[in-house]
Amino acid sequence: MKKFSIHTLEFRNPVLTASGTFGMGGEFAGLADYSKLGGITLKTVTPTPRAGNLPPRILETPCGLLNSIGLENPGMDELLREINSSHPFRAYDTNIVLSIAGESADDFTRMAEAFIATGDIDMLELNLSCPNIHAGGATFDSDCANVRAIVSAVARLDFPFTVKLSPNQDIVGNSIAAEDAGAHALTISNTFLGMAFDRKTGAPYFRNKVAGFSGPAVKPMALYNIYRVAQKVKIPLIASGGIASTGDAIDFLHAGASFVSIGTMNFVEPGIAEIIADGLTEYLREK
Ligand SMILES: Cc1cc2nc3c(=O)[nH]c(=O)nc-3n(C[C@H](O)[C@H](O)[C@H](O)COP(=O)(O)O)c2cc1C
Repeated sequence: MKKFSIHTLEFRNPVLTASGTFGMGGEFAGLADYSKLGGITLKTVTPTPRAGNLPPRILETPCGLLNSIGLENPGMDELLREINSSHPFRAYDTNIVLSIAGESADDFTRMAEAFIATGDIDMLELNLSCPNIHAGGATFDSDCANVRAIVSAVARLDFPFTVKLSPNQDIVGNSIAAEDAGAHALTISNTFLGMAFDRKTGAPYFRNKVAGFSGPAVKPMALYNIYRVAQKVKIPLIASGGIASTGDAIDFLHAGASFVSIGTMNFVEPGIAEIIADGLTEYLREK
């Protein structure tokens, strides 16, 4: 049987859930069988608590979802406190991937060190790509030098990590920079920038004007990004974007991904990642 691994970490299958679409883990207990998944990725945590954006935060479109959540999360200290007291991560029979976002390379290293020290996290995902933090959608990976600095600082810790990039920046250049700087894997990608307008007022629907677009509608663009990044780097790619079925997941493997991650579709069918994990395992066994 083929092995699925990133750095020193092994996965029972190549199916993960995507950050921000599976809560902090506990929300899906009873709805999904975690022991069928390669791993679950937790909502991005920042150094300090964030209340997130004022509503509206979500808008459904045909085959897609616009979101402007604004990285709502309890902050690093609160999550550390929960992990060290009562958080049942260890009860989940799957790999726990923690997504972190700082404001500097130092923040990323400080957060990484603190969460690694809990012993309850199996892999980190560096979120260099959230388009909602700054007005206009600026992200860390809008500058390749940032990518290098953050990735090389975290690589020194020698703990499994993946770097999540935005499709709205130079994703190929950033992928090459991240691999050069020591990334163990890349998550390709975060949401695409999009907009909606209120038809009555003619004003942008979201306060930040620009939102993140995800769901089945983005799959062809996500496939294209995996395909072109796979031509340039050797480290494993985790595909994220529009995966709704086992067939979609297989398409991403053909394009060059080693792992797939399921996002928006968790809201439609909470057991979807498990169904895709079973389907993909069957496909890989027969292959
Ligand atoms: C409501 C919502 C919240 C999200 N929050 C995060 C987040 O906190 N951190 C992150 O890296 N990505 C976040 N994402 C992006 C997803 O992890 C995923 O990369 C993206 O939605 C593309 O996959 P999909 O089309 O399967 O949803 C969020 C997506 C949605 C829809």
